[in-house]
Amino acid sequence: MKKIRVAVLYGGRSGEHEVALRSAASVIRNLDRSKFEILPIGIDKNGKWHQAGPEALTSDSASLPIFRNLPEVSLPANPDASVTGVVSQGASASSFDIIFPVMHGTNGEDGAAQGLFELAEVAYVGCGVLASAVGMDKDVAKRLVAAAGLPVVPSLCLRKGEWSAKKKEILARAEKELGFPCFVKPVNSGSSVGVHKVKSAADFNAAVEDAFRFDVKVLVEKAIPAREIELSVLENPKYGEPPLVSIAGEVNANHEFYSYEAKYLDDNGAELLIPAHLTPAQLARAQEIARNVFTTLECEGLARCDLFLDKVTGEFYFNEVNTLPGFTSISMYPKMWEASGLPYAELLTKLVELGIARHERKKALVRDFKDI
Ligand SMILES: Nc1ncnc2c1ncn2[C@@H]1O[C@H](COP(=O)(O)OP(=O)(O)O)[C@@H](O)[C@H]1O
Ligand SMILES: [Mg+2]
Repeated sequence: MKKIRVAVLYGGRSGEHEVALRSAASVIRNLDRSKFEILPIGIDKNGKWHQAGPEALTSDSASLPIFRNLPEVSLPANPDASVTGVVSQGASASSFDIIFPVMHGTNGEDGAAQGLFELAEVAYVGCGVLASAVGMDKDVAKRLVAAAGLPVVPSLCLRKGEWSAKKKEILARAEKELGFPCFVKPVNSGSSVGVHKVKSAADFNAAVEDAFRFDVKVLVEKAIPAREIELSVLENPKYGEPPLVSIAGEVNANHEFYSYEAKYLDDNGAELLIPAHLTPAQLARAQEIARNVFTTLECEGLARCDLFLDKVTGEFYFNEVNTLPGFTSISMYPKMWEASGLPYAELLTKLVELGIARHERKKALVRDFKDI
């Protein structure tokens, strides 16, 4: 049987570039070579595309040694090239059947890269433009999840212009509606960058100003005394059936909250517990929320759904989805599937198959209205 050619597109211009290199090394190592031929393509921090050499395929290091002495493909390589040309040049002329994007955060996870794949009419793994963009915007994601009747943490969304004009009123509203402590975060954030736990009115302005360095929208949320529960969700290979949800995992930060330091700088920043210690009723509730979030946000392929479990009231709340979650061999998404009986390599195979199936479905749609 002919092997499926998978272009693993990794790195990218986001702040999570390094994490993506580690995720990609792991994806490349684990893709089933009996089914797939792999074409690694790195995007450097300047946005340049590089065809990675054979060392990327054999690398057993934790992350990929890319971007040295590799042929370079700028985007756009040639102003006259069609987008299809640009994308397939990025993957060398030999072309491929599907792109597996392994890029976290801005440009890779927010629908921008997915839009390029759509324009180029190539198959790709994971969420489409809509779910990627919505998943990245914590404000819009929460509004949709709330409208579906699912629990979200009470919050205020601030826009930059409004903040500059009405600082006092906003502080008064936050104090009255949410109280202290509260959390302040850029709407399009990741890795806890710009996230602050604000304990009193005196610290509010500085936190909001800092969050506005990273985005033009900032969320202020009631602080939940939370256990942080995560679930892996996978599109059902039987098209139209409800998505599949893994057992739950728990992140137990050894810091005031799961901050950037706890995530990346401190080796003992957090304990990751799989499975999370939940009662059967709690697990069922968490899985129900995760399944509904995936469907509500129009996710495809995969998403990791992060919840808060209030230690005082026992209520669950939706926190966020990650549509391209960390994919290293110790990352929560693949680990939670492994613990649910789906090994890493099989998970990757399913994701590739789902991406191809979606592409076939879309290709069959009427695009030219003359054909109606
Ligand atoms: N409303 C909240 N209540 C309690 N903890 C919070 C709240 N919002 C954020 N946090 C803490 O901050 C961390 C990062 O916030 P999150 O919204 O998940 O942003 P990111 O996308 O950067 O991971 C969370 O994992 C949690 O530890
Ligand atoms: Mg988070």
